[in-house]
Amino acid sequence: MDGFVLKGDICWSESPNEIKAVADGYAACLDGACLGVFQSYPESLALPLVDMSGKLVIPGMVDLHVHAPQYPFRGLGLDLELLEWLGEHTFAEEGKYGDLEYASRAYKIFVDDLAKGPNTRACVFATVHEASTLALMDAFEKSGMVAYVGKVNMDRNCPGNLLEESAEASLEATKRVIEGSSGYSRVKPMLTPRFVPTCSDELLRGLGELSERLGLALQSHLSENKSEIEWVKRLCPWSESYTDAYWKLGCLNSRTVMAHCVWCTDFEMDLISKSGAFVAHCPQSNINLSSGVAPITQYMEAGLNVGLGSDVAGGCHTSMLRAMTDAVQASKLRWRLFDQSVRPLRLEEAFYLATKGGGRFFGKVGSFEPGYEFDAVVLDDSEVKSPFPMNILDRLARAAYFCDSVSAICKWARGKRVAGA
Ligand code: GUN
Ligand code: FE
Repeated sequence: MDGFVLKGDICWSESPNEIKAVADGYAACLDGACLGVFQSYPESLALPLVDMSGKLVIPGMVDLHVHAPQYPFRGLGLDLELLEWLGEHTFAEEGKYGDLEYASRAYKIFVDDLAKGPNTRACVFATVHEASTLALMDAFEKSGMVAYVGKVNMDRNCPGNLLEESAEASLEATKRVIEGSSGYSRVKPMLTPRFVPTCSDELLRGLGELSERLGLALQSHLSENKSEIEWVKRLCPWSESYTDAYWKLGCLNSRTVMAHCVWCTDFEMDLISKSGAFVAHCPQSNINLSSGVAPITQYMEAGLNVGLGSDVAGGCHTSMLRAMTDAVQASKLRWRLFDQSVRPLRLEEAFYLATKGGGRFFGKVGSFEPGYEFDAVVLDDSEVKSPFPMNILDRLARAAYFCDSVSAICKWARGKRVAGA
């Protein structure tokens, strides 16, 4: 039996509408699971105390969509739109990951930096390269964070050094990575067709079958940018929509994360809802690449599964505290300038999305309810000074809006301390 009790100013979200808060509370962890949050020290548990009095304690945050190999060029080329940015920056950098030595160096920087922030879980794109994808998995496993990591699949419309020889070759390479990752406990493989433009129907169908047969998670991009959507129409004239293309090829189910979904029609929204797929809302990326703003409260009210994503390097910041602010701000502009029928997102909803909303993809994750996996982050917000006393909810709001002044001083994933924070 292995556990501890974490003392601090604790808050968590059980539903989009309400944040629970316990000042000077005690969150108990036993064998990686949360036993709940108590007002006083639960002596009967006889667990050691980790005293973080005065600090904010929140559930580990979940990044549902991030590209590890794009971390080196974050903040660059963001005067472009998606397809130009992919061609000029993204593919050029991703080409370097055929060199395992470079990849290992770059991935170490990424994972070390992530360990210092408030996120404990992520769904991660690597590149098409097998060896460097395994190196990224290795780095995550050692970090203590929990991640799905995918070798990217691409068999059309990309530079020669990233182009896989055929759908079959791409599928075989994917299976080798899955086998190569079987020894990991905190990292799981994820099927990762980049998006319809770079994946043939045959490849997507093959990945859909693999997902079904092995119960594997799958991630991709959907309906991000208008030029991309027009391109998909030309590539898949047999489909009724971009979403329908994934659906008919077997790539849309409850183990799927689709990033963006900015321009989905009502028909597509119904299809996503029916499939049980998760939407990774990536507001900063959607602003940077002028993609648009997804109608995220509409998706939530329609019962879709939604979480937040950084989409580094479309987004520049990895922190889901920052993504909370971006999501609220983007939704307000969308509402004011574009469409009054979809109301703006509230901060408590953004907190839900960044924790339990995305955490649901991983199971019972993202909350301090009893039985949840114990993912927790201790935030030092003492640099965000105030002349009047602030309650926990106000401190959480400020931690989101002033995330650069707030540091994660320690964190745990599944009850295990993540080194580096
Ligand atoms: N669509 C296909 N690939 C990518 C990518 O790397 N980033 C983003 N934002 N969208 C994509
Ligand atoms: Fe992306």
